Amino acid sequence: MIYVLNGPNLNRLGTREPDIYGTTTYQDLVDVCRNTADDLGVTVEVRQTNAEHEMIEWLHRAADEGADVVLNPAAWTHYNIAIRDACAMLRGKLVEVHISNVHQREEWRRRSVISDVATGVIAGLGIDGYRLALEHIAR
Ligand code: DQA
Repeated sequence: MIYVLNGPNLNRLGTREPDIYGTTTYQDLVDVCRNTADDLGVTVEVRQTNAEHEMIEWLHRAADEGADVVLNPAAWTHYNIAIRDACAMLRGKLVEVHISNVHQREEWRRRSVISDVATGVIAGLGIDGYRLALEHIAR
């Protein structure tokens, strides 16, 4: 099982700041992950939450299972130490994904408290980043 976990506001994709995030919807993101998983012959569970405690519980479960995780921590990326600490417990791979190129935006978005505990980071490739992350993990 590979978990694809998405943080706050990502359920609003499609209508949320389309100049930055494009018009692809959250459902498109889910479909890309499921189709990629089918192609690769792996199983994915795609989830989104706006609640910090829920994300932490999902990460604990992934840690207990030794599962690989694709994580878009959204705004939590930049300041959430509890999410970071939960990420540090993971035993499988962790690929941090951002839809937008966070390095092209506000200065404070360049800082991630997650990246140094991640296996790798993908940013700025839209929802294609999820496909690439899953391909990396599966291979
Ligand atoms: C994001 C980038 C974050 O800075 C922002 O807070 C998000 C989405 C992205 O996917 O580009 O909510 O993680």
